[in-house]
Amino acid sequence: MNKPVFVTRPTLPPLEEFTEYLRQIWESKVLTNNGPFHKQLEQALVDYFGVKHISLFANGTLALVTALQALRITGEVITTPYSFVASTHALWWNNIMPVFADVEPGHCNLDPGQVEAAITPQTTAILPVHVYGNPCNVKSIQKIADTYGLKVIYDACHTFGVTINNEPVLNFGDLSVMSFHATKVYNTFEGGAIISHDEKTKRHIDDLKNFGFRGETTVVAPGINAKMSEVQAAMGLLQLKYIDENIEKRRQITLRYRELLANVHGIRFMDDIPGVKHCYPYFPVFIDEAEYGTSRDDLYEKLKTHNIFGRRYFYPLISQFPTYRGLESALPGKMPVVEKITEQVICLPLYPELSNFTVELICSLLK
Ligand SMILES: Cc1ncc(COP(=O)(O)O)c(C=O)c1O
Repeated sequence: MNKPVFVTRPTLPPLEEFTEYLRQIWESKVLTNNGPFHKQLEQALVDYFGVKHISLFANGTLALVTALQALRITGEVITTPYSFVASTHALWWNNIMPVFADVEPGHCNLDPGQVEAAITPQTTAILPVHVYGNPCNVKSIQKIADTYGLKVIYDACHTFGVTINNEPVLNFGDLSVMSFHATKVYNTFEGGAIISHDEKTKRHIDDLKNFGFRGETTVVAPGINAKMSEVQAAMGLLQLKYIDENIEKRRQITLRYRELLANVHGIRFMDDIPGVKHCYPYFPVFIDEAEYGTSRDDLYEKLKTHNIFGRRYFYPLISQFPTYRGLESALPGKMPVVEKITEQVICLPLYPELSNFTVELICSLLK
């Protein structure tokens, strides 16, 4: 390729449409603090997702940190090592001990059996991630949570509009956290959100993200500044206009990859889960070195020589980073499934404008 092809490229709406929103912000002089675009976007996303309440955030990491504060989570939380580091960092920033559990091989999400096995008297919550936008086994996780009296906070940063048998995946668990980062299916430059299911919790989260203020002179909690600005919210409103079209383009590209790679020995990829409406954020493939004849890392390097930059999401595991690798649950051999997956995975480029020509070229290189 003449120009580098990265694993993703931000999706942007037409600039002239965005400048109209900017003009309104310049006129109103409302830049942040629950302004008109912020209010409109909250309502628009509640309608789009089919959820009860949403609180917008400056980014997904602050939303995760605040979600844990909102439910006053302490002690130990069971989570997955197969995610972006922010999932576990949010626990650390709250002085909570992460306890890693293994994933199921099919879709790389937390294995409910392993979650149950990791529960101790200190466990207060489970923090699963819907990795690659594929829903976790939400029913089994809820059953475990109910049995042991635990909270469930989903890291739903990879999901956008995902449903299971027409039920929004965001309706499961006590809270779900989203990211609208530039690299996501839907972006507000940076951005995030917490989905909650009752008015009181939403209000508490809204207080927390605004320094704990409730009203002009009352501070009800030690909050933080995690508010989404009007420019971000305006971007969000405009992006919503194009989101279905963009997800459809991602679906088409995913289908093309699957078709072209269907018979390549040693390459496994994920199929759609029946009953699930997907959002196609990533196209991970898993390389079985013995069968494929080349290691994942050699393939990754080879693609780079052709100006194609896949990403090894998620490698290393969060549990392998220096901060966490000394923890009991992180020790080598404790999570055999995920330890294997992390050595095999590479995400291929996927974004709405990716041309058919490039997809075919990538697949011919893989073959
Ligand atoms: C699974 C996951 N969790 C958390 C985050 C953090 O979100 P943000 O970058 O918006 O802070 C991201 C993405 O960046 C993510 O992919």
